Amino acid sequence: MTSWKDMPFGIDSDGKPLAFDFAGTQQHVLAAGRSRAGKSNWLYSVLPAMVAQGCVIVGSDPTGILLTPYVAATPDGWIVTKTDPAAVERMLSWAVRLMDERIQEGVRAKKREKIPTDDPAYPHIFIVMEEWGNTVRSAKVYDQGQKPADRVSGLIEAHMNRLAAEALKANMSILLIIQKASADVLLGIRDQLAVRCSFAQPTKDSAEMIDESITRENAERMQKAKPGVGYWYFAGEEPVWFRAPLASYEQYFDTMEKHYRGRPDVLPHYESAGGNDDVSE
Ligand SMILES: Nc1ncnc2c1ncn2[C@@H]1O[C@H](COP(=O)(O)OP(=O)(O)OP(=O)(O)O)[C@@H](O)[C@H]1O
Ligand SMILES: [Mg+2]
Repeated sequence: MTSWKDMPFGIDSDGKPLAFDFAGTQQHVLAAGRSRAGKSNWLYSVLPAMVAQGCVIVGSDPTGILLTPYVAATPDGWIVTKTDPAAVERMLSWAVRLMDERIQEGVRAKKREKIPTDDPAYPHIFIVMEEWGNTVRSAKVYDQGQKPADRVSGLIEAHMNRLAAEALKANMSILLIIQKASADVLLGIRDQLAVRCSFAQPTKDSAEMIDESITRENAERMQKAKPGVGYWYFAGEEPVWFRAPLASYEQYFDTMEKHYRGRPDVLPHYESAGGNDDVSE
């Protein structure tokens, strides 16, 4: 599996492959770019590379296009493939609970600082939040019709904050997929998203949400970027422009559906704290 370790995520302007060890580096990831900019296409290469390294995929995806291939191998409720803010809140609350258990059993009880990337008992769990901006907004709309005790936006934000702050120690990481980068969807966790990959951004301000010290030239280039052309920011390193490979969705879907086995043994079935239990398709 080492051939997947440094996953080529694109090529630079000289045609040189650029690689990143997504699973081994233990970082949270932001993938951004306006509609049709190339985020999903890019992930059709990134997710299979992570799966090849043994990562477990959970998350939410309102249209189900990206995450459906993983549903059959995943215990109910861990992948939400419709617009259902209560189901997203519940899934994130489970992720927090699992993180706490992993920190208790896999970190503190084992007298270590964090779970290493190669402990077979604790494979990397990648929490993929497709269309995260829409999820945040639909949770706010949902709350308008709810009694205070049933509102979910505040909880979703609280879970995200805890995951952003602590999940890496538990060998879990977040991938947020958004269109326009803005403070309201990043919920104050932008600084913890050390890897930020952005395709076209609509404004200078949104380009600066990706990289606060982006040059004027790069911000302008980001506003005009063609589909599949991305800006790769990794905290502490020089940003680079890259071109993502054009992937085939059919091939992505078939390969993942056929080969993804999941790890049901590492995703507990938690009893829900009430409410309806119908969270899966
Ligand atoms: N790397 C690429 N090279 C060439 N064309 C690309 C590339 N990536 C994307 N495209 C083109 O852009 C289209 C839209 O890409 P994609 O579906 O990945 O966008 P997106 O950012 O996920 O958009 P949305 O936010 O609407 O889901 C693709 O169907 C393809 O035609
Ligand atoms: Mg998309």
